[in-house]
Amino acid sequence: MDFFPYYGIEHRTVGWAMHKKNRVLFPGIIGWLVFSLFFGSGVAAQEESYELAHEDVFGPLQRPSVHFPHDRHMDALDEEGCGICHHVFDKEKGELVPVDDPDAGCTECHGSKKDGSVPALREAFHGSCNVCHRDVNRVGEASPPVACGECHKKKNGAGQER
Ligand code: HEC
Ligand code: HEC
Ligand code: HEC
Ligand code: HEC
Repeated sequence: MDFFPYYGIEHRTVGWAMHKKNRVLFPGIIGWLVFSLFFGSGVAAQEESYELAHEDVFGPLQRPSVHFPHDRHMDALDEEGCGICHHVFDKEKGELVPVDDPDAGCTECHGSKKDGSVPALREAFHGSCNVCHRDVNRVGEASPPVACGECHKKKNGAGQER
């Protein structure tokens, strides 16, 4: 069964099963620490979570910024791998290739406007986040957010109220 058909990536088992979480987290952190110690300067580091507010691309945001718990996704999707979200475009093959050692965020390639077959940043995020969340909800083992206001949450901080 293909749970994430949108990605065109061949899927292994459904790795976000909840019971795996505790087992995987600890060695994961140690592994990452060791890795960072050895290769520290050369490897792009990701944050534990992101407050996605790409005003650099979108200009003033129409919706509140989006909280994205990156660590939680790495954990829940450890069998699918980083490449379920991170990819590069292989020009020779003419197709997207999943990458497990990304060195760039999405804005590196997705801009404010659609560019040929490259979707604009908003569609890239929605095409990744929302499509997967819908699929996960359909399968029914978790219920990540799918409504606008569940991702674009109103916050009480200055400048966030919209
Ligand atoms: C699963 C999470 C998710 C859901 C659900 C979602 N979005 Fe988004 N949306 C995002 C992310 C992530 C971005 C990129 C935000 C950024 O970097 O500023 C984004 C960007 C946007 C942007 C461009 C940035 C801005 O604020 O001007 C708009 C507009 C937007 N979404 C509207 C919507 C609307 C309308 C809905 C419901 C139909 C919706 N979104 C549902 C995650 C979501
Ligand atoms: C559920 C989707 C998803 C998964 C799975 C995922 N990432 Fe990410 N990652 C993102 C998003 C979204 C960002 C923020 C990019 C942006 O703001 O442009 C990000 C940012 C990053 C960045 C920072 C890039 C930069 O320079 O801004 C690194 C490094 C990274 N991820 C590495 C990883 C690694 C390693 C894994 C697997 C162990 C992984 N990611 C799994 C979605 C994901
Ligand atoms: C190195 C450049 C590059 C980076 C970085 C990149 N993309 Fe893309 N992405 C592309 C290109 C090129 C396409 C269009 C592929 C095609 O022409 O078929 C694409 C297509 C997409 C699509 C539509 C096709 C599909 O497979 O779903 C989505 C959704 C998407 N990107 C989301 C993201 C997200 C989310 C991130 C960050 C986590 C990201 N991209 C980072 C180059 C990139
Ligand atoms: C490939 C699948 C996939 C993609 C892509 C994805 N998610 Fe998720 N997301 C999940 C799963 C699975 C969960 C449930 C994880 C759990 O319960 O531990 C989840 C949970 C969440 C939650 C709820 C966390 C909580 O505390 O309950 C938020 C918020 C979220 N995702 C935001 C995002 C945003 C924003 C993006 C895009 C930048 C995104 N997700 C991309 C699969 C995905």
